[in-house]
Amino acid sequence: MAVLQVENIQKNFGKVEVLKGIDFAVEKGEVLSIIGSSGSGKTTLLRCLNFLETPQEGRITVNGETLFDAADSHTLSDAAIRLNRLHFGLVFQQFNLFPQYTVKRNITLAEGLLAKERIKKEGSYNGYTDYREALAAIDQKAERLLAEVGLSDKQDSFPCQLSGGQQQRVAIARALSMEPDVLCFDEPTSALDPELTGEVLRVIRELKAAGRTMIIVTHEIEFARDVSDTVMFMDGGVVAEIGSPEQVIGNPQNSRTREFLARFNER
Ligand SMILES: Nc1ncnc2c1ncn2[C@@H]1O[C@H](COP(=O)(O)OP(=O)(O)OP(=O)(O)O)[C@@H](O)[C@H]1O
Ligand SMILES: [Mg+2]
Repeated sequence: MAVLQVENIQKNFGKVEVLKGIDFAVEKGEVLSIIGSSGSGKTTLLRCLNFLETPQEGRITVNGETLFDAADSHTLSDAAIRLNRLHFGLVFQQFNLFPQYTVKRNITLAEGLLAKERIKKEGSYNGYTDYREALAAIDQKAERLLAEVGLSDKQDSFPCQLSGGQQQRVAIARALSMEPDVLCFDEPTSALDPELTGEVLRVIRELKAAGRTMIIVTHEIEFARDVSDTVMFMDGGVVAEIGSPEQVIGNPQNSRTREFLARFNER
């Protein structure tokens, strides 16, 4: 069964049709890269998956559970949207860390709030009935995640004391903290100096090796070819071509994919 099933997602902003019926599925442990020109709708698609935008049409299903169906979207409460978001982790281009908090607190903040709320409402969180005990476990998990992204020595630093590549690795650890089913990246290296992209791409490769399910919007075509199981080329709000990296990047069938890749090769 697919971890994620996306059906007929349509998103308009006023009269502008940005997504015109997007369909795809992602299997457990699969890495899907999304490539395409500026304005083709890649960020909007990720924002729809993370419930930051509400599509006018379509359905989003995770592990067989329909999280969103435009046919009955009016029933989605704020609480339901917050629950839905827990299925997805999102790493932005601009890291978006909280500057006033340490690295570790950036990672533990969201789960700490969730634990507090659950203990108050339901009496327990992950088997903990005591908030401080829950927090200690969340802290330990943050330390494990920081080790996973190679930043164990930075847990007490503040974001401004880190390089861009280190900040992005903290953002990745933060996205992993809620144990999402699907980890989404929106151009994770495009705000970085070229010499810092390697460390972030290396972490993403390690996450793939660890079996994480990921969707990566990227302009790093060679990286996409290397790390992906599936590559999707978006053009004008539709999926113009989808398949293995060998097919879509190595031997594209669609003329628009060929033009897009040719422009990349010229640079
Ligand atoms: N909130 C919004 N209101 C109006 N139009 C929007 C909004 N968000 C996105 N758009 C429009 O939707 C289209 C797709 O934007 P989107 O950011 O999804 O593209 P993209 O593929 O991520 O591009 P890029 O490669 O430059 O990041 C653009 O024409 C953009 O202007
Ligand atoms: Mg974008």
